[in-house]
Amino acid sequence: MEQLLDIQGLSVEVLNGGRYYKAVEQVGFQIGKGETVGLVGESGCGKSLTALSIMGLLPETARAGGRVLFRGRDLLSLTEEEKCVFRGRDISIVFQEPMTALNPLVPVGRQIAEAFLLHHTGSRAEAREAAIGMMRQVGLSRAPSLYWEYPHQLSGGMKQRVVICMALINRPALLIADEPTTALDVTIQFQILELIRQLNRTLSATVLFISHDLGVVKEVCSRLLVMYAGLIVEEGGTEDVLRHPMHPYTRQLLASIPTAQNRGRDLYSIPGAVAPLDKRKPDVCPFSDRCAQASAVCFSAAPALRGLNGRRVRCFLAGGEAIERC
Ligand SMILES: Nc1ncnc2c1ncn2[C@@H]1O[C@H](COP(=O)(O)OP(=O)(O)O)[C@@H](O)[C@H]1O
Ligand SMILES: [Mg+2]
Repeated sequence: MEQLLDIQGLSVEVLNGGRYYKAVEQVGFQIGKGETVGLVGESGCGKSLTALSIMGLLPETARAGGRVLFRGRDLLSLTEEEKCVFRGRDISIVFQEPMTALNPLVPVGRQIAEAFLLHHTGSRAEAREAAIGMMRQVGLSRAPSLYWEYPHQLSGGMKQRVVICMALINRPALLIADEPTTALDVTIQFQILELIRQLNRTLSATVLFISHDLGVVKEVCSRLLVMYAGLIVEEGGTEDVLRHPMHPYTRQLLASIPTAQNRGRDLYSIPGAVAPLDKRKPDVCPFSDRCAQASAVCFSAAPALRGLNGRRVRCFLAGGEAIERC
């Protein structure tokens, strides 16, 4: 498989009250062409900062270290002009809230056509044709008339489809979707997930899908990266991870997915919360304060991410007897 993205030792520090705090640490993973990879973890784990580092869109109060190789080129070392050329053409991003990407004053179709013209020399008519074609592909069937409608005339799900059109109109090699369905209601959420799956199949779109909800990520992705407190704590094929989660945090995320059995009942949620940046302890396991299995070793040092049975896990107990019993 051709490798598209190769992230090595990515760290992101953010400025808070005059001090820099590490919000993303030692993050490394690869994405091959045509893959759908999921990045999952609770809010505050560093998923969005990871995505923004790839896009070169970090806020001014954040700084990244490490390497983000895209087709062998380090994106962290691009100039602003170079970033503008690659953004949208090579990698696109879709955020949770469609209105962050849409201009309320411009008809939606025209916004897609303008995104097309950013990276193509063509006439307005060609751009309109491309936009309408893309709108049809994402299931906006009233495409020609919808072209002239304004964002406020569209439902949330339709707006997110328009944003996906803008992200895909230049056929980027990689689509990053950061919580793309979190603001939508459940039925619409399902339709957008189905759309992303279909775009992966029909356009061979490579997707990095980010969500706090493992139940959503598992629907779309063939490989999972689990992030906790700025670190990758588990990685593996989706089916493997679901069948045999190795990290206690992954097991807790799994237990929080609504199922046919527990629907309607109070959903299990993981006790406690991810430590805020100024309360993190670099020399113990980051999950030790919330882990029911934690033993002395977990409070004595920080575990490394290690390979185990073709997967990766950052837990002292994984693979040992202790983990089999829990
Ligand atoms: N611009 C910023 N300034 C200060 N802290 C930030 C900034 N952006 C994110 N953070 C902090 O970094 C951590 C990771 O944030 P984020 O990547 O948004 O997490 P996630 O997307 O997993 O919810 C959080 O603790 C968040 O509060
Ligand atoms: Mg986020």
